[in-house]
Amino acid sequence: MSVTVIQDLRWGDTGKGKISEYLSRPDVCDVSVRAVGGGNAGHVIVVGTRKLALHILPAGCVHEGVDLVLGRGMVTHLPTLFDDAAKANDLFGTDPLSHLLIAEENHILFNGHKAADAALEERKGAGAVGTTKSGIGPAYADKALRVGMRMEELRKPVAALKDVYAKLLLHWAATYGVALTDEEQVGDIAALAEGKEKLEGRICNLTEYWKGTFARRERVVVEGAQGSLLSIDNSGYPYVTSSSTTVNGHMQGAGIPPKELTTVIGTLKAYDTRVGNGPMRMNMDPETAARIQKRGGEFGSTTGRGRTVNWLDAEDAAIRALEESVDSLAVLKADVFDGEEEIRVGVGMDNGTPQYEHFYGWEESIAGLDNEEALPTRANVFFKRLEELLGRKIDFYGTGPESKSIIDRRAKHAH
Ligand code: IMP
Repeated sequence: MSVTVIQDLRWGDTGKGKISEYLSRPDVCDVSVRAVGGGNAGHVIVVGTRKLALHILPAGCVHEGVDLVLGRGMVTHLPTLFDDAAKANDLFGTDPLSHLLIAEENHILFNGHKAADAALEERKGAGAVGTTKSGIGPAYADKALRVGMRMEELRKPVAALKDVYAKLLLHWAATYGVALTDEEQVGDIAALAEGKEKLEGRICNLTEYWKGTFARRERVVVEGAQGSLLSIDNSGYPYVTSSSTTVNGHMQGAGIPPKELTTVIGTLKAYDTRVGNGPMRMNMDPETAARIQKRGGEFGSTTGRGRTVNWLDAEDAAIRALEESVDSLAVLKADVFDGEEEIRVGVGMDNGTPQYEHFYGWEESIAGLDNEEALPTRANVFFKRLEELLGRKIDFYGTGPESKSIIDRRAKHAH
C-alpha cells in the first residue's frame, strides 16, 4: 500500500495535471484523489491531440480502473464537476461518475458564492486578491460560519434542499450584500437536483472507504491543488487561497490518517509564475518574460489571465521542499527554455536585490525527450545544479505538455 501526495511547491500551475496523470495510470495507481480547493484549479492533461483542463476531478479520471475520490476539504461546484466528467467522457471515453466517491463532508459551492467572491473583490479595490472568482473564499467562509451545505444533504428530498437554499439566499444577502438573479438561483436549484440524481450512491463515509482501501493494500495518489505558497497560512497572506494547500492540508482534506503517507513529490517549473496579485522576489527582463510566457502557454487555465513570469527562486523552493517533507522533485517545462541563450536561477537576496546563478542555454531542443541520455550537456548541468540548490533529487524532468514527454529517473535513483 502507498499514499503519494503530489505537492506544488510554488503558486500553482507547475504542471500537476501532467505529473498526476502519469502517476495515476491504472498499472501504478488504484485511487486518484482531489482533497482541497474547488474549480479554481485547472489541471491540464494532454494526450496526443486530446487536451483536457480539469477543474474538480483528479487526473485519474482519464483512465478506467482507477477509483476517483473528492475529499472532505473541497468546495465543489456541481455543474463544474459534471462538466469535467462530460469532457473526460468525450475525450477519453471514460465514465468518471461511475467510479467516483465524494466525502459526505465535501461542501457544495453555489452561484451565490461566485457572486459573493466577485462582490468582495470589487469592494477591496486596489487591495483585491485577484481571485479566480470561482467562489472559493465565500464557500470556505460559509463552511467556517457553519452555514454551508454539505454533500451528505443531497440525500434529502428536493423540497428540503430548496428550504436550505432559501436560507442561504438570505445569508448571502445579509453577509455579502449580494442578491442573485433568477437565472443564478434556477441554476443552483437545478444543480442540486442533478447532483441528487447523478451522485446517488456516490456520497460516502471516507473513513470506511479508506479502511477497505488500506486492507486491500491499494496505491493512492493525492493530487495537490494550487501550491504551498498559496496556502491560507502562508506568509503571503492575504494573497493566498482559502484552503490549506500543503501536504498536511491535502492529507486532512483527503481524510487519510497522517501516518499512512509514504511519498511526497514536489513539483516546480524551471522558472516561476504567478497569477493573481501578490509579490515575487525574483525578476526577469520583460522581453524574456514575454517569450517564456508565450512559449510556455502561461495563461491561467481557469481565467485565461496572463501569468507573471520570473526566474525560479531556488532559495525559496528549497525551503518549501523542506517544509513539505519532499522526497523527490518533478521539474517541469524545462523545454520552454529551448532556444534561450542564457538561463538564470535565483539563489537569494542581497540588500533587497535578487542574486542569480547564470547558465548557458542548450542549443539542441529537449522538447518531447523521454530519455535522459539524449539530454544535451548544458541541460544536464542545469538540472544537476538545481538538485544541489534544492537539496532534493529530481525524479522527473518534464519536457513538454504531452503526457509522454517526461524523463522518469526513478530507476536510476533506486540503484
Ligand atoms: P482563489 O483561490 O480563487 O480565491 O484565488 C486566490 C489566489 O490564488 C489568486 O491569486 C488566484 O490567482 C490564485 N489561485 C487559485 N487557484 C489557483 C490555481 O489553481 N493556480 C494558480 N493560481 C491559483
